[in-house]
Amino acid sequence: MANVHVELGERSYHIHIAANHLQQLKRLLPNLSKDVFVVSNTTVAKHYFADVSAALADHRLVLFEMDDGEQYKSLASFEAITNKLIAEGFSRDCAIVALGGGVVGDLAGFVAATYHRGVDFYQIPTTLLSQVDSSVGGKTAINHPQGKNLIGAFYQPKAVVIDLNCLTTLDDRDFRSGLAEIVKYGIIYDSDFFHWLEHNAIALAQRETQALQHAIQRSCEIKADIVAKDERESGIRAWLNLGHTFGHAIEAATEYGEWTHGEAVAAGTIIASKLSEKTQRMSSSDFRRVLNLMSQLQLPTQAPNMTLADWLSYMMRDKKVKDHRINFVLPLGIGQAEVTHNITDEDLAAVLTECC
Ligand SMILES: NC(=O)c1ccc[n+]([C@@H]2O[C@H](COP(=O)([O-])OP(=O)(O)OC[C@H]3O[C@@H](n4cnc5c(N)ncnc54)[C@H](O)[C@@H]3O)[C@@H](O)[C@H]2O)c1
Ligand SMILES: [Zn+2]
Repeated sequence: MANVHVELGERSYHIHIAANHLQQLKRLLPNLSKDVFVVSNTTVAKHYFADVSAALADHRLVLFEMDDGEQYKSLASFEAITNKLIAEGFSRDCAIVALGGGVVGDLAGFVAATYHRGVDFYQIPTTLLSQVDSSVGGKTAINHPQGKNLIGAFYQPKAVVIDLNCLTTLDDRDFRSGLAEIVKYGIIYDSDFFHWLEHNAIALAQRETQALQHAIQRSCEIKADIVAKDERESGIRAWLNLGHTFGHAIEAATEYGEWTHGEAVAAGTIIASKLSEKTQRMSSSDFRRVLNLMSQLQLPTQAPNMTLADWLSYMMRDKKVKDHRINFVLPLGIGQAEVTHNITDEDLAAVLTECC
């Protein structure tokens, strides 16, 4: 078992990572309130709520089971959860536990940030993406019809509990979606980890426990390190958006259905790396390593066919646009990145044409 510390002064917390952790919640969360409100969805609750409930038998547990899907990360769900908290008499001293993927975690976290101006919040992420990314770092949000994550808050959990066994029921596409974010950590922050991923791609794709344990732990350590340096994304935290400006354009252009987030990020990471290669930020051999690793993990390396005008119009809507300039996160070789708007229209057009 592993323990990753997120250092944020008095808001510091631990990420506990191992198999069989659901059964050990009582030991892992000694300060958990007696009044626990669990937010989950129909898919995840069916598999895992019984374990949580058995482990916390001496707490009062109320379950809010939402429908499954990104469209439920909404104001309507926020209101329904708050109504239930009030109806069930939950006070300032309660705890809210998110049991599910990033959708459940983002929504439950935003409720926790606002209910009674903030109650204790715990994450039990059950998708690979939520285990290595969304449950760590304190970004919480709901969507608005005008855009994703438009309403939210920075609100750190008291602890994150990762149970590797939860990944056994995850379908292949959602599993691979998480792998794309893991590759991202290697590219932006840790060339040794990238090298390890190259050597363990098959074990990871086959969900071998030891490989997963290491990949999740190293990803959480890197995210914890970055968040500790820049909690509110005024600098280095933006590196975590590698591939996301292009990825979000792909997701939007395909109406958030055809491509998973991770698939879009994988193709977006290839585009960003190609742009780095073209502008001498990355060698051709390093570019090929990125390309090979993504293909080994069966992630897409080609974006869908879109016109340059489409790309630009979707990318200009991205939250990262400042003063009408697109800020690109570009790898500097493998193991480092930078944010820059210094890219010529010609280079951008050439790379987008090549990668579609
Ligand atoms: N807060 C952040 O920093 C951050 C970072 C990245 C992404 N996000 C958000 O995370 C969300 C995406 O998260 P996601 O990819 O986890 O999607 P998700 O929560 O929709 O989960 C994907 C699917 O897997 C199912 N599922 C979850 N756990 C399962 C399990 N153990 N077994 C079987 N099925 C399971 C879910 O019901 C769902 O159908 C997006 O809303 C995105 O905006 C937030
Ligand atoms: Zn992402």
